[in-house]
Amino acid sequence: MRLSQIARSIKASPTLALNEKAAILREKREPVIHLGGGEPKSRAPMDAILSSVNMLNSGEIRYAPADGTPDLKKAIIRYTEEYYHRKVSPLNIIASSGAKQAIMVALQAILNPQEEVVFPAPYWVSYPDMAKLVGAIPVPALPEDGSFYPTLKDIEQRVGSYTRAIIINSPNNPTGAMYSEKFIAEIVEFCEKRDIYLIMDDIYHRLVFDGRKPISAFDYTKESVENSKIIVINGVSKQYAMTGFRIGWAVGNKKVIEAMSNIQGHQTSGPSVLLQKAAVGAINGIQSGVESLRVTLENNRNIMLSLLRSFNGVEVNSPDGTFYCFADFSAYEKDSNELSKLLIDKVMVLTVPGKEFGLDGYLRLSYCGAIKEITEGIERMKWALDTNSPNELFIGDRKLVRDWS
Ligand SMILES: Cc1ncc(COP(=O)(O)O)c(C=O)c1O
Repeated sequence: MRLSQIARSIKASPTLALNEKAAILREKREPVIHLGGGEPKSRAPMDAILSSVNMLNSGEIRYAPADGTPDLKKAIIRYTEEYYHRKVSPLNIIASSGAKQAIMVALQAILNPQEEVVFPAPYWVSYPDMAKLVGAIPVPALPEDGSFYPTLKDIEQRVGSYTRAIIINSPNNPTGAMYSEKFIAEIVEFCEKRDIYLIMDDIYHRLVFDGRKPISAFDYTKESVENSKIIVINGVSKQYAMTGFRIGWAVGNKKVIEAMSNIQGHQTSGPSVLLQKAAVGAINGIQSGVESLRVTLENNRNIMLSLLRSFNGVEVNSPDGTFYCFADFSAYEKDSNELSKLLIDKVMVLTVPGKEFGLDGYLRLSYCGAIKEITEGIERMKWALDTNSPNELFIGDRKLVRDWS
């Protein structure tokens, strides 16, 4: 069958495919442990539920404005003042169906075919395909020093005359690395000097550990939001555990937001009014759920880290935020796809191969699930990979016998 060049250039989201695989295995009552997930397990905030239930009960669920409802924009204005220290107008905001759509319409608004978008590697799996969806060229920048913390030089080396945008995701999916204020200040200055858009994907900005505080890129520019080419992306998915509500947003100059709104207006229209209402409830409501999620994740990180550090041959850095560990398993297997496949086939532990994030030899392991799952998942992985472990392992009353080396 004939498909477009763009359709042929992109592949299915590997993380969504893994979710499906886990769901199928669970349906078959297989004792699968999902360490590949990208969503917190806590409940959505009560304020989000109540405000959307009230609207649902009214029975009047109509079209939304293409760029978001006035009350969600009002909530985002307050949020932007609190976390980004800038007073913006409704015209500086677009609400989208998830941060994913906000990033996508931003790329559609600023990139022409064959232009380039640079981002540090390891990177969120969707960035390369999102760039390809607009006919642009993704340019990953792997830090030269082998760390997960890029320097300005790492980025600068990848920027050329076709570069129109840089995407920074900090704290980072998959590594959990939160970039320093110095780096953010440098990248803001660099983008201004080179007249390049800077997309700050801040979806994990409040889920940070060890006393860190969210960073605002706007703090490092003297420009007003109006004269700036910084586009800040955020949303309710991770911080409020509202992944299925699909509400994200972008804050930027009026021209770019207007272009994004025009695109979104033809693509999907504004996100559902019902779900925007829920987002308003979450943003304006009691915030203790965010802190308790953050504390839970920090505790889970500590547990996962100590389990991984007792794993012979595995190298792992301490994540500064998010709910992911990006661990080096190359001592066991250099091909992360093979390793991930072995782990699901032999011990039913789902992991995401590092190759999907631009760095082979690594696995991304999520610690957003229950402690029991984290502990048992890592134990099973140890059993599968350590040739000195006993020949048999019991999962419930199921006996696994090692038939691989
Ligand atoms: C770095 C990053 N940006 C954006 C998103 C998308 O967020 P949303 O669910 O709001 O579309 C994700 C989700 O996994 C992510 O990890």
